[in-house]
Amino acid sequence: MSFNKQTVKDFPIRAKRVLLRADYNVPLTDKGAIASDFRIKQSLETIEYLLSQSCKIVIISHLGRPEGSDSKYSLEPIAKRLSELLGQQVQFSQNCVGDDVQKLKNELKSKDILILENLRYHAEEESNNTEFAKQLADGMDVFVQDGFGVVHRAHASTEGVTHFLPSVSGLLLAKEVDTITNVMTNPKKPLMAVIGGAKISDKIELLNRFIEVADFVAVGGAMANTFLKAQGVKIGKSLVEKDRVDDARGIIEKARAKEKTQNFTFYIPQDGVVTKKIDSNTQTRVVDWGSHTYADIASYPKTPPQFAHTVAADELIVDIGPASSHYIAGAIQTAHTVIWNGTMGIAEIPGLAGAEPPFGHGTRVVYETLTSSTGSKPFSVVGGGETVAYVMDEPVFKSAHLIDHISTGGGASLELMAGKKLPGVEALKDKK
Ligand code: 3PG
Repeated sequence: MSFNKQTVKDFPIRAKRVLLRADYNVPLTDKGAIASDFRIKQSLETIEYLLSQSCKIVIISHLGRPEGSDSKYSLEPIAKRLSELLGQQVQFSQNCVGDDVQKLKNELKSKDILILENLRYHAEEESNNTEFAKQLADGMDVFVQDGFGVVHRAHASTEGVTHFLPSVSGLLLAKEVDTITNVMTNPKKPLMAVIGGAKISDKIELLNRFIEVADFVAVGGAMANTFLKAQGVKIGKSLVEKDRVDDARGIIEKARAKEKTQNFTFYIPQDGVVTKKIDSNTQTRVVDWGSHTYADIASYPKTPPQFAHTVAADELIVDIGPASSHYIAGAIQTAHTVIWNGTMGIAEIPGLAGAEPPFGHGTRVVYETLTSSTGSKPFSVVGGGETVAYVMDEPVFKSAHLIDHISTGGGASLELMAGKKLPGVEALKDKK
């Protein structure tokens, strides 16, 4: 284990009053219901351990980015879902600080669980206000940080509170940091990174780090459009970050320099699925702007389909094309470790009447290759909100359990992979 902080198992926690920071910032439906309880389920191991140690547990979390105290972001439904998952009553407090909360904390008995209302209903949470952090800590013996998704933020509930209580890691946080650090520093090679999603701006540091540590980096999703533009490919009205084209060019140059001296590949899509309109019922076509022909790719028929080679001015790229997705799949099959963050197209648009999602092919090929039981399956790590939502979409895809690590962190896992220090982890007690 490369995680160098104390966990709940290193600390004399039996019968203590535990303040537990979870990340229950779950996706919500339009009606405000829980769209995925993945983060809640991932928090159970630590809670069950604390229950086995007869602790009194007070859970704190944020949800969303509310302006004031918008009831859409209440943690009450989370308390209900947690009760169901644990099979025991979880109490809920309408606030997270104040006399009433203090009273509820004082009344807790061994193995009781209390969830406090959304921390971000108070601006003091994000400003890391000392008095607010002190109030969170009041009446508690130990702070357990298990909200991996939020440890890249220095907030009152991640950093401030550690000045008032001995602070250790939960089991989820330890597992996340350990797994991600290991694949970045000591992976079974070849290491491949498949990076997609909408924006390159969130992932510049990450891409630079992967060019240093990986053997193969493939980009997809709308992010790839910025690389295509940097290479002079016509991309019609596709989503692009114009102010990041120079960054993309810099990344390409760095990657091409490594390709000249080492066994390394940086892959930018050579074809894409394009449409004029983003909806389930739209017409799509494949455009191949790459220099290869399909006959070059062994898995394709000898006579290549006749594609037009230019994205028209009124079209936009909504997925990587079939050649690109199969090229990436082939590379996945030769890798021993694969990190996947970001979908390859707009995979969340559903198909009509049970049909395949119209822009989901590239993402599906990556998913199916990662979870395929034929050949030597690489060690796989998946992160990022949309990618995790995709692999957890059980009614459609049933193989998510074949992925070795599905991270609960979005920004936190990107920052950890990029090699940054995470304030919410740094603040915890070091291992002895
Ligand atoms: C996340 O979902 O990435 C975390 O919960 C952090 O949320 P934030 O980006 O609103 O701070």
